Amino acid sequence: MSKWQSLQAYHASVATRPLISLFDETDRAADFSVSADQMMLDYSKTNIDSKTKDLLIELAKVSGVAEKRAAMFSGEKINDTEGRAVLHTALRAGPEAVIAVDGADVMREVRETLARMADFARDLRAGRITGQGGAITDVINIGIGGSDLGPVMATLALAPYHDGPRVHYVSNVDGAHVADVLKGLNPETTLVIVASKTFTTIETMTNAETARRWMAGKVRNTGAQFAAVSTAAEKTAAMGIDPSRVFGFEDWVGGRYSIWGPIGLALMIAIGPERFEEFLAGGRAMDQHFLTAEFAQNMPVMLALVGIWHNQICDYSTRAVLPYDQRLSRLPAYLQQLEMESNGKSVAMDGSALATQAGPVVWGEPGTNGQHAFYQLIHQGTRVVPCEFMIARSGHEADLAHQHLLLASNCLAQSEALMRGRSLAEATAIMAKKGLTGAELDRQARHRVFAGNRPSTTLVYPLLTPFVLGQIIALYEHRVFVEGVILGLNSYDQWGVELGKELALALQPILEGKESAAGKDGSTQALVAYLRG
Ligand code: F6P
Repeated sequence: MSKWQSLQAYHASVATRPLISLFDETDRAADFSVSADQMMLDYSKTNIDSKTKDLLIELAKVSGVAEKRAAMFSGEKINDTEGRAVLHTALRAGPEAVIAVDGADVMREVRETLARMADFARDLRAGRITGQGGAITDVINIGIGGSDLGPVMATLALAPYHDGPRVHYVSNVDGAHVADVLKGLNPETTLVIVASKTFTTIETMTNAETARRWMAGKVRNTGAQFAAVSTAAEKTAAMGIDPSRVFGFEDWVGGRYSIWGPIGLALMIAIGPERFEEFLAGGRAMDQHFLTAEFAQNMPVMLALVGIWHNQICDYSTRAVLPYDQRLSRLPAYLQQLEMESNGKSVAMDGSALATQAGPVVWGEPGTNGQHAFYQLIHQGTRVVPCEFMIARSGHEADLAHQHLLLASNCLAQSEALMRGRSLAEATAIMAKKGLTGAELDRQARHRVFAGNRPSTTLVYPLLTPFVLGQIIALYEHRVFVEGVILGLNSYDQWGVELGKELALALQPILEGKESAAGKDGSTQALVAYLRG
């Protein structure tokens, strides 16, 4: 019997037991949680018991997680549909690291670029790099996908540490986005960072041109107020950006894994190079933990195994990410790209069809807002949604500690309610106290039943500092890696985004009326006709 079959068979035998009954086992909370530095992941409110844990760990072992982990960290070309190494970990590896790709050292360039970024950020923050109108007051990062979601999420997350110029983000090709951001900014004191790994992405190139035109009306030397982040030096030169303002990185950094290097420049400008270094140190600490902790105590491995259990074994097709931390409001969107662009595939490494479901649909919102929106379905809907809660021990607002307490009570209440539920007998007793009787009592009580037995995990951390944010992002990166290895797919390509891009290019002249829509299907033709008015 394969490990997958053993897990399926065992799941069938325990699927209906009450989660709460698992706590009869002593020390379940300790046995089904993992710690890394000062962070703890509690997965005891799941239907995983010691046997499940052993089977899942066996699955990780036979899937070659340890071997592939070593291959990734040492610069082997594990992204084999693009012939690339996967080395975002090199960007945070620290001053002593020695890493090579094809026998050539990569760390010298990583360190040099980081030092140039730090100099640039310091000069900008100190007013030594200026715009035509004096010190830079506003920085706009123009990028999309991995060149936007990471820095925008982290900039929001680390708001208490902002002490540099204001930082704004433009991503959508919808002109509304760039127009709303430019409105109210002074072109003479604004710096634009064009962030694109390939420097070909149509949204970014179009928005960059719009920003350049906006600035050109007021600023004589626009080049002096532009910078670029890219792997394509010749393309940044063609845009007229001075090489001293170009921060490069290599193709072994995937877009959605790129926040640790030059794509993080806007974040570094907002919080300063020292805080950015703390962020890198957090990622590095998680790397060390991932590399050295045995699987049962390894946070990324166990988070991945909980994911595999829920998605592939229990067949729950989505998972909700629910940070009880308003400043992590864009984390669900960030994780959507990280997880779904990485593990949303149908073919295995060798090109054969995947033997199991691929990665899940990931979605979410911060608590407590989500409670007043979609938690109804999570508690009483017909589908089970495994929930991933997150909460800090304290908030940054010491004078509002009572609000943090309320936040924490809500977070813990949700996981408890999901697990315990409320039986018909309990609901009936509550409604009887309100004076209902007979058939109406029964009918009303049934609407107030919570099935319970709904699994969740809770990640707790001391405070949302740059270090902790680095830990959290690296935790999820490695979780995606482990799940990808177990599913047998390539987590580091993204061919699924290409077809839409090609068709959009072909539709542009049709919408402009320069080409006929004749070859298109009836629906597309009708939509073109409507949009052309
Ligand atoms: O379209 C998807 C994608 O290729 C992402 O993987 C990437 O993060 C994003 O586009 C932006 O790409 P670039 O940084 O090259 O502009």
